[in-house]
Amino acid sequence: MTVTIRLEKPADKAAIYDITKRAFAPMPFSGGDEPDLIDRLRDADALEISLVAEMDGAVVGQVSFTRGVTADDSDDWYALGPVAVEPELQKQHVGSALINAGIAMLRERRAAGCVLVGNPEYYKRFGFRVFPKLAPEGEPAEYYQILPLRVEQPDIVVGFHPLFYG
Ligand SMILES: CC(C)(COP(=O)(O)OP(=O)(O)OC[C@H]1O[C@@H](n2cnc3c(N)ncnc32)[C@H](O)[C@@H]1OP(=O)(O)O)[C@@H](O)C(=O)NCCC(=O)NCCS
Repeated sequence: MTVTIRLEKPADKAAIYDITKRAFAPMPFSGGDEPDLIDRLRDADALEISLVAEMDGAVVGQVSFTRGVTADDSDDWYALGPVAVEPELQKQHVGSALINAGIAMLRERRAAGCVLVGNPEYYKRFGFRVFPKLAPEGEPAEYYQILPLRVEQPDIVVGFHPLFYG
């Protein structure tokens, strides 16, 4: 099984929507807004990095990175998510390939770090750690994680793009 990770192209839009919808559908934490969120972010030019996984010419997964929001307007923090893999192909390392490729791009950009809200059991393998004291208001502190890249010790609150809230 050969998986290629590449930047999204305009023609991938429908496949990304469809995979994201089906991947999140069974998730109890999901409100079902993820596919529309990705479209809103793209329309607002806020999708800083969108990578897709391609297998046999078909898109089978996608990960989004947006700018993190800080009080001092620093522009070198990022937020990961949503990320989704074709349900039939999950747990075969496609998600890991997408996330690792995205993190490599953040390192190239000399990003301060990356934040997300998700299952710590999954994201710890990429170096994300839970930082409950730095969780933005309204976010679940036990799921708020940071991957420090350029910074060694995160000390500011990094929030999410306003479009994540509707
Ligand atoms: C989360 C998701 C993107 C991961 O993609 P994936 O291709 O299935 O993940 P990988 O195969 O790269 O996972 C690597 C490892 O993590 C494990 N893993 C996958 N999903 C996991 C989860 N939700 N919780 C804990 N571990 C998980 C895999 O079993 C695998 O373990 P191994 O290395 O011991 O074999 C995918 O499962 C998905 O689309 N889920 C539905 C949408 C979703 O929940 N998105 C994330 C919201 S925060």
